Amino acid sequence: MALYKREDIDNLEKIFKINLINSCSGFKSANLLGSISKEGVSNVAVFSSVIHLGSNPPTLGFILRPTTVPRDTYKNIKESGIFTINHIFKEIIEEAHHTSAKYPENVSEFDVTNLEEEFKGDFKAPFVMGSPVQMSMKFIEEIPVPSNNVMLIVAQIEELYIQDALLQKDGLINLSIGKVAAINGLDTYAIPTFKKQLSYQRPKKIN
Ligand SMILES: Cc1cc2nc3c(=O)[nH]c(=O)nc-3n(C[C@H](O)[C@H](O)[C@H](O)COP(=O)(O)O)c2cc1C
Repeated sequence: MALYKREDIDNLEKIFKINLINSCSGFKSANLLGSISKEGVSNVAVFSSVIHLGSNPPTLGFILRPTTVPRDTYKNIKESGIFTINHIFKEIIEEAHHTSAKYPENVSEFDVTNLEEEFKGDFKAPFVMGSPVQMSMKFIEEIPVPSNNVMLIVAQIEELYIQDALLQKDGLINLSIGKVAAINGLDTYAIPTFKKQLSYQRPKKIN
């Protein structure tokens, strides 16, 4: 097996290190975050760090990279207090990936890609049309991580839209049916297939 010790990692070539450390944590979620500026310009960007924080209240989080460069999603969330999370699926992978390109804040990524924005109900932030799982999110708090200058953004689910075919009787969202993507590293996408759903585990009897 290849072995990298901390000192080796610190001395790696930049791109190799980024790829290595971005893939070592495992497959990551693949989401598009939709937001809107106070001037009414939509924004959509790919994020691979959306995680479950708790069900009661329904809370998700994501990691925001250092704000040493303009971060439109963050600015919009702070201004409006809201955003959307939309799962990336097979048919939109290339377009979704392109949203990581740095466009000026007056340019909507919906105008420069084939992604289509969708507005639902009274919610002011745009959803991504066709995404099998879409969520309206309310910003709750930001937690700085000083050791590497990132922030954990904490948000609660206001509305959860799920395409009917994905929703099982027991509440599980079967992401495979929606061909929902996962991210390996920073630029590699997979479409995982459903293997096994296991029951709640209890300890074995130890004599
Ligand atoms: C696969 C992938 C995953 C990404 N995940 C994140 C992430 O979790 N957090 C983050 O701050 N940026 C992430 N980015 C970078 C943003 O997509 C990029 O900075 C984008 O320009 C942000 O757009 P905005 O300035 O409109 O918010 C990721 C980029 C790619 C390609």
